[in-house]
Amino acid sequence: MTISASSTPHSAAAVGTGKPTTDLAVADIALGDLETWMRPDREGIFAKLRDEAPITFHAEPVFEPPEGEELPFTIPPGRGFWALTRFDDVMTVSRDPDTFHSAPSINIGDIPPEIAEWLGSMINMDAPKHTKMRLIVNRGFTPRQIARIEESVREQARGIVDRVGPTGGCDFVSEIAAALPLQIICDMLGIPREDSHRIFELTNIILGVGDPEYVSSAQDLMGAGMELFQYGLALAEDRLATPRDDITSTLMHAEIEDENGRHRLTSAELGSFFLLLVAAGNETTRTAIAHGMLALTQHPDQRRVWTDDFEAVSPTAVEEIVRWSTPVIHFRRTATRDTRVGGQAIAEGDKVVMFYNSANRDERKFDDPYRFDLLRTPNEHVGFGAGGPHFCLGANLARREIKVMFEELLHRLPDIHISGEPDMLQSAFIHGIKRMPCAFTPI
Ligand code: HEM
Repeated sequence: MTISASSTPHSAAAVGTGKPTTDLAVADIALGDLETWMRPDREGIFAKLRDEAPITFHAEPVFEPPEGEELPFTIPPGRGFWALTRFDDVMTVSRDPDTFHSAPSINIGDIPPEIAEWLGSMINMDAPKHTKMRLIVNRGFTPRQIARIEESVREQARGIVDRVGPTGGCDFVSEIAAALPLQIICDMLGIPREDSHRIFELTNIILGVGDPEYVSSAQDLMGAGMELFQYGLALAEDRLATPRDDITSTLMHAEIEDENGRHRLTSAELGSFFLLLVAAGNETTRTAIAHGMLALTQHPDQRRVWTDDFEAVSPTAVEEIVRWSTPVIHFRRTATRDTRVGGQAIAEGDKVVMFYNSANRDERKFDDPYRFDLLRTPNEHVGFGAGGPHFCLGANLARREIKVMFEELLHRLPDIHISGEPDMLQSAFIHGIKRMPCAFTPI
């Protein structure tokens, strides 16, 4: 089967260079409604908003427990949110952390206090607490630590191709794209191989919120988060007592000093950080690799550009794959005072949502944004965030994983291609592909 421009529900309109359209009027666009996210004209919706109404207000999704089920916590009714769709407005908000806080949550809905303990990681914090946490966890992501992980990235990527090579075809997402980042995070943190599959299942539940395939009940969601947090907690305590050569040990023994004294991570902080890492590092990188393979199948000319001079083209190719796929669709901030963004008045306490997917297709910023161009320069995309104190901690690691995975795939399975329809994740948060078949000549 041939994968054509119309084969991908969301990025579809993005194949080819024509500007996507929608029949919806601005007033009928409801970004808080999950159904909007499954529409085939999603790219057209954002193009229309950028042109006609770059900042609009939307009602929040209502979280309804499945019939007959009682929630173990209450979700406060949401006050609605401002949607930022232009590149410049997203940059303004991301780079002004005094006016736009990450607390209480970077998701559109607020976190119920019952789960804030384990979900309350650094991504939802502001200075000075965030600054302290970031100083400590940076120790796990120094060039020396990343160099150490690099060897493991190469080894894992080779192992994946060794495993699937003889089959001639497999599910690209679970057997190739997802296998790499998961194994790398587990190796980094010192998680034994036999536990990694369970960790993978649990992160699917957490990030698949909204997709019925992954979450059967709110209890499952709570249970998954709790289990991951507990796992991280136990790992932290073990490494505190018996340090090993892994990042968990580095982090548990790292100390920073400021005017208030010396600080170390508590085991609970490491537990939350663990949850953040397995979620932030797995689904995102897997999504970029999966969309990358799909785009290379749809754009054989670009694939040739890359394979003809792999090393030289890789730096721009990797950035374009992250811009194209934009694995994280949005993050939210909360205004700490009355202010204005792009001419729009924003009141203290208002929720402001940065739509990275839209900023990365903004015609005002990118030439021909719907063209997949592995040589795109400049390419100042916001796939890893739009700057500011929360900029993706794992960006360099992710870049490395994407490069090495494609190096192994394109060299050792030279005719690998996507051979069926991608099955998209129902989510307004992660631009995920759940499964997607690929085929190649067996080796
Ligand atoms: C293609 C892959 C990835 C994408 C698209 C991605 C995207 C993002 C984005 C959009 C943010 C928020 C930035 C902001 O608010 O300014 C973020 C933060 C973060 N990312 Fe990534 N990420 C990726 C891979 C990774 C990996 C591999 C790791 C770790 C192993 C990681 C760890 C983190 C952490 C810890 C934060 C929070 C940083 C903070 O709050 O200070 N990410 N990422």
